[in-house]
Amino acid sequence: MTEFDAAALDAQTQYKLLIGSITPRPIALVTTLGSQGANAAPFSFFNGIGSDPAMIMFSVGNTSGHAKDTVMNIREIPEFVVHIVSDAIKEKMNVCAIEYPRGVNEMVEAGFTTVASKKVRPPRIAEAPVAFECRLQQILEIGRVPYHVVIGEVVYFHYHDGIVDERFHVDVGRVNPIGRLAGRGGYTRITDRFEMPRLKLGGGIVEG
Ligand SMILES: Cc1cc2nc3c(=O)[nH]c(=O)nc-3n(C[C@H](O)[C@H](O)[C@H](O)COP(=O)(O)O)c2cc1C
Repeated sequence: MTEFDAAALDAQTQYKLLIGSITPRPIALVTTLGSQGANAAPFSFFNGIGSDPAMIMFSVGNTSGHAKDTVMNIREIPEFVVHIVSDAIKEKMNVCAIEYPRGVNEMVEAGFTTVASKKVRPPRIAEAPVAFECRLQQILEIGRVPYHVVIGEVVYFHYHDGIVDERFHVDVGRVNPIGRLAGRGGYTRITDRFEMPRLKLGGGIVEG
């Protein structure tokens, strides 16, 4: 085994170990609105964390000494839209990660089409196959960097046609998400899938 005592590692080293180990990570492309206009940025410290109501989280590192535009906007208008990043929109997503000054609309820079959301004020990105309109539940400030863990309640679900069937099963092949790996440019696709049904206590498999 190769082992490390976290107490002996600096923040950058712990970050490298985390992002190299927790892979692949889903990517949330988050749109927000603030006093200086609309904003979009990707976050791979992202996941679903509850279903009654549906809730998601993403975590924003305060790496340059001040809160990122996404967090500043959510503090002003506590609403946002989380988009799943598909293979088709990966290059545009990457443009949204550029550290533009506050007030620059990354959606315009990336060439995304924006449309009005149904229940929240920040706009939605039309090209994203899946979008969750969210209302802020809370922002947790954690750690010494610090990180802002943004927790939101999903209040409206959007899918491109043909992705969700009548039983609410999502066709992940049609979403075609990409995942974040480690390093400056590491990503993966879902091109090598397999099925492994869940087992029941006492034998058999869990249906559905
Ligand atoms: C695929 C990808 C994933 C990222 N994940 C995160 C993340 O989880 N947390 C974070 O703070 N920054 C993350 N970033 C960097 C932010 O997107 C970047 O700092 C962005 O400019 C922040 O935008 P904002 O200041 O407009 O909010 C990621 C970048 C990329 C390309």
